[in-house]
Formats: sequence, structure tokens, C-alpha cells
Amino acid sequence: MRVLVLGSGAREHALTWCFARSRRISALYVAPGNAGTAELATNLPNLDPLSHTAVVTACREHDITLVFVGPEQPLADGIVDTLLENNIVAIGPSKKSAQLEASKVFSKRFMTSHNLPCAASSEFTEAPAFESFVRGNAGKKLVVKKSGLAAGKGVLESSDPDELVSFGMAALTNDSVIVEEFLTGHEISVFALCDGRHHIVLPPCVDFKKAHLGEGAPNTGGMGAICPVPWLDNRTIETVKEEIVEPTFAALEQDGLLYTGVLYFGLMLTDDGPKILEYNVRFGDPEAQVLLPLIRSDFGDLCDALRRGELDRFPLNISDSYALGVVVASPGYPGDYVSHLPVSEIPSYPPEETLVFHASTYERDGVVFTNGGRCFTVVGIAPDLLGARSCAYSAVTSVTFDGAWYRKDIGSRVFRPDNR
Ligand code: AMP
Ligand code: GLY
Repeated sequence: MRVLVLGSGAREHALTWCFARSRRISALYVAPGNAGTAELATNLPNLDPLSHTAVVTACREHDITLVFVGPEQPLADGIVDTLLENNIVAIGPSKKSAQLEASKVFSKRFMTSHNLPCAASSEFTEAPAFESFVRGNAGKKLVVKKSGLAAGKGVLESSDPDELVSFGMAALTNDSVIVEEFLTGHEISVFALCDGRHHIVLPPCVDFKKAHLGEGAPNTGGMGAICPVPWLDNRTIETVKEEIVEPTFAALEQDGLLYTGVLYFGLMLTDDGPKILEYNVRFGDPEAQVLLPLIRSDFGDLCDALRRGELDRFPLNISDSYALGVVVASPGYPGDYVSHLPVSEIPSYPPEETLVFHASTYERDGVVFTNGGRCFTVVGIAPDLLGARSCAYSAVTSVTFDGAWYRKDIGSRVFRPDNR
């Protein structure tokens, strides 16, 4: 297999790490990649994953036989359709199916029309109707969501009608908004691989989304993750499969939405059972960094089974270890942040215990520089979560640059979870 991974984040570094270990791989490229992927594969730093023509040309030039699309934007733009039209195999959904993430209006209509468990909601395109709805529900905590892709900045949870109205009004200048009831419970991320006919559910993860613990903490792209989830019992996992995952794939089939690739279920485990917060059409970041290292099966074989429509026969082997990831972020993140900071030399660690995944870093004259808000995910792996935590936190202090910061409490509450 000659593989091209599209993307430059820590998720794509983790994907590249999986491919690099596969006995099926004869060539491995990443576009644009980062300083971490450069150690495992050939980066194509000038290839823009959003340029369909450039991606197809690069696939021809490097004889690529499989493209794995990491981030949502190329999927939303239909890169998989373009690649398939050019007879290049790609892992990821079509543009039509990618609307499950790219349009919250589309995905909410999909959930409600198929009676899938989710928060009660209303859809707005006009400012006056939106404002009077929010003001009419004053006192209730509500969630306002922009419909389109917003890189984690498209959702506001609040009980303050003024704040909700101003957030929604700004969004309504160029988008629709959804207003949802605020659900309480514990949030988990569940990933399924689907080959168009069969699906496999991977171990659940928790993403720690807030910048810090406590009321009013801002949302981030995710400051840490664990996999699997020690407090989640098998019965709940079965309920999620029966009430959410299987009905979702049945509904996709009913709507003629052939789905191939990764489907991510963002779920709230409420007192009324699990409810869907959102679908994403790719692996989560930082969830991928803790989930992928636990896949023991050859990743090339797994992708090959997916593209052949043979996932039902694939003997998936998952490690029974735990993985815990801590994100190291730039000063200022999730607000305006500083980039291009030199990173101290990162020691090497035994890969079965500690992995350091880079996000958008680059190297100049032997020095690695940051280039984004979330710069690294340091992952610890061990037979239990406390061991994984100790591996991750002993390494995280040596992944450093001026103003680097990270949450100190990832996975600290194993029995009484607080996953915010
Ligand atoms: P979304 O992009 O729809 O997943 O929303 C981002 C985050 O906002 C989620 O991961 C939740 O933490 C939170 N969120 C979204 N919808 C709701 C809801 N209806 N109730 C409570 N929290 C929510
Ligand atoms: N971890 C959340 C996301 O990837 O959207």
C-alpha cells in the first residue's frame, strides 16, 4: 500500500504512527504533516489538503493507493468524491454524508426525522424569531449552535439571554442557528468504522473539552482524553450500540446515505439514557491520540478491509491497556495565542508507554517550532488508567516552550467522573 494521510494535527500524527507500524505499507506520505510525522513518513509540506486538483496530482505523482482523510474540512468539501472519481481509494465519507458534521441543521433534521435520541431543538434563520424564542425561555439554560463548521467555536451554553442572543445574532449574519435544551450528564465520544455495509464500534473515549475545571471555563478543541472509560459499564455500552449506533446506520441506509469511514458520536449520558449531541465524520482530536495506539491489529489491514467492504470479517484486536492523553497548548489558547515558539528538545520515551504526538509543528535547523493553539498531545499507556496517567504526566513537563500550559487533572477522577 502506498498511503497518503491528509492533515497536520496530532490526530494525523497518530494515524501516521499507526500506518508506519503496518507491514502493508510500502510508502507513506503526509500532507502537509508536521515535525513529528516527518520522522515517520515523507511530508508534502506544500500540498494543501483543500486543493482537490493538487491532491489528485500528488496521488498520481506518488502512486498513492489509499488516502486517509484526517480533518473535517476536506471531507465537507467532497475530497473523497473527487478522489473516487479519479479512481483513487480514500477512507472517509462523501460530501453528501459529511453534512452530518458540516451542517448542524442537516444532522438535527436527520436525528429528529428518524426519532434518534437527542436534545429537543428549534431551527432559526431569522433574527426576530430567534430572539423572541430565546427571550421567551429566559431563566432556562440553553445551547445555541451555529449550523456550519466552526472549529469548536460554534456552540454557546448559557442561561443569560443577552449573551445567547448576541452569539446567535452574530451567527445569523451568514448561517442558520439551532437552539437546544441543555442536557446534563457525562459526555463520551464513541467511534465506529463503517465500510458502507458493516460497522465496528471502537472503545469509548472521554474528551476533556474545557480549558480548566469549574463554571464558566471556555470550550477548547479538547485538552486531554482517555480511552477506554473505566466508569462506563458494559450495559451502557450495549445501550449506546442498540439505541444510537445501530439505528443511526439503519437511518443512513434508509436515506440512501452510503457511509464509509469513521463516524463519531458525541453523546451525553443523561438520566433518560444516552442522547446524541453531535455527529462528526472523522476521528476526534485528541480522542484519536488515545484510541489509535490501542488498536493492535495491523492498521493497513484494517483500512484494506474497510475499503473492500469486509469489516464484518475483520478480526479486530484491541489492547486491554488504558491510554491517557494530555494536550500541551500555546500561551493564550483558546483565545488569541502565540505561535512560532521554539520547543525544548523532546526526550525519547519507550513507545509502549509514552507517545508524543505533534500538531502543526515545523522544524528549522534542528529546532522544532510551535504553529497553532494545541501543540502536542502527550499520551501515556499502561495496564490501568492511573499508570497511564503517571506515564503521561511524567513526560508532559519535558515537552515545553515559553508559556506552554496543560490541564493537570486529566483522568484524575476515575470513579466520580468530571469530564467537563
Ligand atoms: P457540539 O459541537 O454540538 O458537539 O457541541 C460542543 C460541545 O457543547 C459538546 O461537546 C458539549 O460539551 C456541549 N453541548 C452541545 N450541545 C449540548 C446540549 N444540548 N446540552 C449540553 N451541552 C451541549
Ligand atoms: N474532540 C472533539 C473533536 O474532535 O471535535
